[in-house]
Amino acid sequence: MPDATFHFPTGFLWGSATASHQVEGNNTNNQWWQWEQQPGRILQGHRSGLACDWWGGRWQEDFDRAAADGQNAHRFSVEWSRIQPTPDRWDESALEQYRQMLRGLLERNMQPMVTLHHFSDPTWLTEQGGWENPEVVEKFIRYVRKVVEGLKEYTNLWCTINEPNGYALLGYVSGEFPPGKHDIKLAMRVMANMVKAHAAAYHAIHDIQTEARVGFAWNYRLLEPAKPWWLLDRLVTRINHLGINVAFPSALSTGVMRSPLGKVSIPEAKGTQDYFGLNYYYTMHVKFDLSNPAALFSRSFFPAGSDLSDSGNNANFPQGFYKVIQWAVRTYPNLPILITENGIDCRDDHMRPRFIAQHIHQMWRAVNFNWPVKGYFHWTQVDNFEWERGWTNRFGLWELDTLTQERRKRPSADLYAEICKENGLSSHMVRKYCPEVFEKLFPG
Ligand code: BGC
Repeated sequence: MPDATFHFPTGFLWGSATASHQVEGNNTNNQWWQWEQQPGRILQGHRSGLACDWWGGRWQEDFDRAAADGQNAHRFSVEWSRIQPTPDRWDESALEQYRQMLRGLLERNMQPMVTLHHFSDPTWLTEQGGWENPEVVEKFIRYVRKVVEGLKEYTNLWCTINEPNGYALLGYVSGEFPPGKHDIKLAMRVMANMVKAHAAAYHAIHDIQTEARVGFAWNYRLLEPAKPWWLLDRLVTRINHLGINVAFPSALSTGVMRSPLGKVSIPEAKGTQDYFGLNYYYTMHVKFDLSNPAALFSRSFFPAGSDLSDSGNNANFPQGFYKVIQWAVRTYPNLPILITENGIDCRDDHMRPRFIAQHIHQMWRAVNFNWPVKGYFHWTQVDNFEWERGWTNRFGLWELDTLTQERRKRPSADLYAEICKENGLSSHMVRKYCPEVFEKLFPG
């Protein structure tokens, strides 16, 4: 078969995404650091420690590699607990360090995207009730204003909150994240406060920077009934879908947050997005399960035969990616879409190349319908601290040795570099890095 290439439009953003607590190291002043000190909270008792030592300056070598590998964008988050270590103190040197990182990206011709909240909160905020307390909205806005004033010279692409659903559901339903609670009502209250904080941040950012592009990052987990013909599987899938996928986005499109517990009117949230930020990891099946009342009588799982990651916590479901982009286009017909995260944990890299190739192929199908996907941020550049899974899950294009801080290139880094440089995925690349899916991507 002759060579072929799936091309992307000129100006497409290719990057990777990171989060402050996962890469900076020594983030001692947030709730995650405290959580890590409690026995049993993190797999194998791992701690974030020095992480990827970005606060010590190693962001420079990672940005160098990303730029050399053809990435023209990078998404990182700023750490609230560094910028505002106590309620009445701003740390200007922390802001200066973020300015240096932003200058570092621009010097490397990479478009920066800044996330203002990615799972970590200052300990003082947690002590004041965190996101359960409605006063969080005002506190968040003070912080957002300070950051945007301080960094606006270098970027106009802002992500207010990363995965409000991850934060609320993992922290308040399954309890794997701090504060480790099991209370769906509280989870929905937290999510509603996040909607309000996002909406207020949207306006605050635009007040400061008229040309700002503001959105949030939404983890859409595609859910399918285990047995599509079975009413109860369909019912619990629908309920889960509402809580996991619909609640927050519905508030932004209609001004009403629709959740399994009812509707909350938040009119000021309507239309507060300049782009839609989509994180896609996998698709799951859902079945009715009487023995699991905590999850509203449902159980989610990867179907037998799935292409599972090392840990079994992630799986390769490329077709789901296409469906989720389609959902985004239908839900927000007038918004550009940025893929703010997509990736898989795989220490020896045996499946990451096919994961990347198959997902980029699905994204290309979407782009070919003229669906407005404008960029893709792979999760992630270098292995980083994977929250409650510690260092057991390895998502990096580059491997990290946490003892020496040495980075070792995985084959996926080369594949992704070829894609970024070509602004497309070619049959040659697929043959070279993941021949096992060649027939699926280039049939005939
Ligand atoms: C989160 C990241 C995390 C990734 C992989 C996403 O939901 O935003 O912080 O590392 O999943 O688990």
